[in-house]
Amino acid sequence: MASTYRARRCSNSSCALRFPVEEGSPLGARCPLCGEETAFVDDAYRTHVITEKAASSVHIEVFLDNIRSLRNVGSVFRSADGAGVAHVHLCGFTPTPEHPKMAKTSLGAEDAVPWTRHPDAVAAARALRDDGARLWVVDGGERACSVFDPQLLASRQPGRIVLVFGHEVSGVDPRLEALAERTVCLPMMGIKGSLNVSVAMGIVSYVLRFVGSGGPLNGSAENLDA
Ligand SMILES: C[S@@+](CC[C@H](N)C(=O)[O-])C[C@H]1O[C@@H](n2cnc3c(N)ncnc32)[C@H](O)[C@@H]1O
Repeated sequence: MASTYRARRCSNSSCALRFPVEEGSPLGARCPLCGEETAFVDDAYRTHVITEKAASSVHIEVFLDNIRSLRNVGSVFRSADGAGVAHVHLCGFTPTPEHPKMAKTSLGAEDAVPWTRHPDAVAAARALRDDGARLWVVDGGERACSVFDPQLLASRQPGRIVLVFGHEVSGVDPRLEALAERTVCLPMMGIKGSLNVSVAMGIVSYVLRFVGSGGPLNGSAENLDA
């Protein structure tokens, strides 16, 4: 839901913090950094609600094996909602939306995306595969191909793709990889060998859902030079 915000600026010139405050809120009269008085600057603005619907019809499910962080799982639910993920499988000790603190990062998305809990990820993955699902492990390794590979994107359909993500430290269980159709990775250019699991989930789901499916948006590429 859209809301209205306005910027405030700290009167202390050596601080000069500029920050947004929701219109009508009593907060922000004092600078949150240095405690000096602040004043409104510039006009109020509305936040954006993005409702773009141009997308591939690929069926995506997400499978999380032994993810320990509540924040990561909450963030996965929020991205799953945005990317039109059909189902989230929560395996091993992965926390579920029944945890009262998950909504801090999922912000209600956990109510919009169906989920199930499975104590044993390997048994669950085998059952999904036997039911015809295509398991795509998301991880590195020799077998991995880039999620941006055009041939991979061309193979998104048909069927039910289940994206399998592993533990924050130990990665994906090799027994899951042995059951998978393929392994896909996000290329890494820096000093780190992997991304945060919820970030990786968001990128891969969005690539599969939206790459090659761009529709006309208000700010379409034609307007970029304007
Ligand atoms: C922090 S990573 C785990 C790193 C772990 N040291 C390993 O060797 O896999 C947690 C999970 O996020 C996903 N992930 C993170 N970065 C990725 C990348 N660049 N490509 C594919 N998957 C990635 C994988 O599912 C991985 O199991």
